Amino acid sequence: MNEEMAKNLCQKMVEEQIIATERGVKDSRVIEALLRVPRHCFVTESQQKYAYEDRPLSIGAGQTISQPFMVAFMTEILALEGEERVLEIGTGCGYQSAVLAEVAKDIYSIEVIDSLSQKAKSTLSLLGYNNIHLKVGDGYGGWPEEAPFDAILVACAPVQVPEKLIEQLKPGGRMIVPVGEQVFGQELLYITKNLAGKVQRKKVMSVRFVPMIKGE
Ligand SMILES: C[S@@+](CC[C@H](N)C(=O)[O-])C[C@H]1O[C@@H](n2cnc3c(N)ncnc32)[C@H](O)[C@@H]1O
Repeated sequence: MNEEMAKNLCQKMVEEQIIATERGVKDSRVIEALLRVPRHCFVTESQQKYAYEDRPLSIGAGQTISQPFMVAFMTEILALEGEERVLEIGTGCGYQSAVLAEVAKDIYSIEVIDSLSQKAKSTLSLLGYNNIHLKVGDGYGGWPEEAPFDAILVACAPVQVPEKLIEQLKPGGRMIVPVGEQVFGQELLYITKNLAGKVQRKKVMSVRFVPMIKGE
């Protein structure tokens, strides 16, 4: 796909799928970020023609790149202003990490499948991102050595909210996480920790994410 074609498709994706929807994303920094990140660079060559469509796509190893709207919505809800340290669970192809890296200071992203993490690493370095730190492992336990985080984004669905992730959230921090036992019946939860450390959970919408895999 040439650069001009990708830019046009990306512009159309953002206008039609991200802004002009019922729950339309309004944060201009998130909108700009989606316009800047070349989504087709994160998928295999055979999938590139679908990269700007309104759906998840296969990235290999039985995993997917999330639907563009979901990436934008989950980024917006974290209310990032530029100086935050963000933990992401489920690097996948690295697209969501790149969007986060456009609106926050440092991104720490964990992926349980080694081959996906390696591929994401090479894509992100080719695109020149140097504020994304990748690790292979089970994200259920978070990244205690780098905690606490201003925000946490979970891109795969655990059966319950991992307590370790809540512990690694700063006072004043927020987390977005899909929770549920099966692909059907998952809820996206928005979790906040106030300055006194009190945690609140709010259901945002029903979603379908790949399940969180238990690592070794
Ligand atoms: C929907 S995909 C992520 C999409 C990704 N954010 C993107 O932009 O492509 C979910 C990812 O979570 C990963 N995953 C599943 N269980 C995990 C775990 N326990 N720890 C870390 N990553 C996990 C999967 O391998 C998969 O790559």
